[in-house]
Amino acid sequence: MDDNFEPTILAFFCNWCTYTAADLAGTSRLSYPPNIKIIRVMCSGMVDPKYVIKALLEGADGVLVSGCNPGDCHYINGNFKARRRIKLLKEILPSFGFEPERLRLTWIAASDGVLLAETLQELVAQIKTLGPSQARMQLVG
Ligand code: FES
Repeated sequence: MDDNFEPTILAFFCNWCTYTAADLAGTSRLSYPPNIKIIRVMCSGMVDPKYVIKALLEGADGVLVSGCNPGDCHYINGNFKARRRIKLLKEILPSFGFEPERLRLTWIAASDGVLLAETLQELVAQIKTLGPSQARMQLVG
């Protein structure tokens, strides 16, 4: 394992919850790894499975989708749609050559800056353990 490996992780954050938590973490001076590239979406249910596959195929080492807690989605059931999609995506990722652990779904409320920072630190550690994604290796190598 390459000790210098720094993963690139694409994170789709719901505007109303997790993105606000990221903002809160920043203003609270909580540190989280710089490996996370955040994309703000209006709802986790708007994350098309194609975005996840494309991110991994183009070299992301991991993808995080995070939205409002069950019952708190501003679009009623977007987060439940996201949960179903992520479950299916995890099943098909191996056929693309990716470990399902490279994709994660979490619920992080706007007030959970601490949880956000902890989740990101733990996710980066997990992806470091997995190593660079197969697609990244092919792109680089
Ligand atoms: S509005 Fe946050 S997950 Fe739907």
